[in-house]
Amino acid sequence: MSGEDRQPETPVPGAEGARPGAARPSPAAEARSAPAEGDPLIRLEGVTKRFGPHTVFQDLTLGFQRSEATVVLGASGVGKSVMLKLILGLLRPDAGRIFVDHTDITGLDERQLIPIRQRFGMVFQGSAHFDFLTVYENVAFAIREHKDWPEEKIRETVRQKLATVGLEGTETMLPEELSGGMRKRVGLARAIAIDPEVILYDEPTTGLDPVTADTINSLIVRCEREMQTTSIVVTHDIASAYKVGDHLVVLHEGRIIADGTPEAIRQHPDLRVQRFIHGDASLTEPPSEGDLP
Ligand SMILES: Nc1ncnc2c1ncn2[C@@H]1O[C@H](COP(=O)(O)OP(=O)(O)OP(=O)(O)O)[C@@H](O)[C@H]1O
Ligand SMILES: [Mg+2]
Repeated sequence: MSGEDRQPETPVPGAEGARPGAARPSPAAEARSAPAEGDPLIRLEGVTKRFGPHTVFQDLTLGFQRSEATVVLGASGVGKSVMLKLILGLLRPDAGRIFVDHTDITGLDERQLIPIRQRFGMVFQGSAHFDFLTVYENVAFAIREHKDWPEEKIRETVRQKLATVGLEGTETMLPEELSGGMRKRVGLARAIAIDPEVILYDEPTTGLDPVTADTINSLIVRCEREMQTTSIVVTHDIASAYKVGDHLVVLHEGRIIADGTPEAIRQHPDLRVQRFIHGDASLTEPPSEGDLP
């Protein structure tokens, strides 16, 4: 990983073997991209993103390891959703490159992005459901977008995915008939519908009560373990970050100010990081003398 303030890493239980460590890319892969530490599945390299005069990211370099859950933390407006859109190729960087499994996606057109996007499931901020479609049709739509499966196979897959998220029997309901937590779970069922290799979660627990949020966190951990997915979770929910993350990254004003294991982040010397993880999510004011901890 590549944050400037990277801390010494403590092993994460259960993560051994998931992070390739000393494994290097094959010579063919080397030719396709610059060598990167730990051979991450997704890598942002020197990425700058601006909207008009506003710079969201400045020369950001960050890797996401295979079969690992990386949580990107940061205050509202720091650029978490923008980061996910860059990874999906929905936004393009002004400078720098984005690699998905050694393929530089920055110059790809919409058609070339299709096979890349098929590898991703996305849980949108809000829920991004079609409100006029039933739960069944919402999940089935996510399948039909990418697969030309017979209806029988779609039906069985939808049933299975709804069972995974604990929503059996809701097929005929409309999103407006569901609670916030149930809607998030439909979003998760949609994201896992075609067994993606990578799941991107945009604020999966925001707006939920702590118990419902914890149910969502458990589902994320379950998907990660059972499907061996690579997960990228962007959030400002610290409890969620510690529940699901193998690796935590803290963003602040366009840059990474901390990058390491949950334990390394807990003990991080930067007071801005301490303020953030202790619940002062503003991160906007410089810490004063005698501040935490
Ligand atoms: N399409 C766009 N056009 C112009 N500015 C944008 C666009 N998308 C995002 N921004 C700006 O980029 C910045 C980062 O936005 P982003 O949505 O990524 O924040 P965020 O970290 O996801 O915040 P939140 O936690 O509230 O969801 C904001 O200042 C936002 O106004
Ligand atoms: Mg956002």
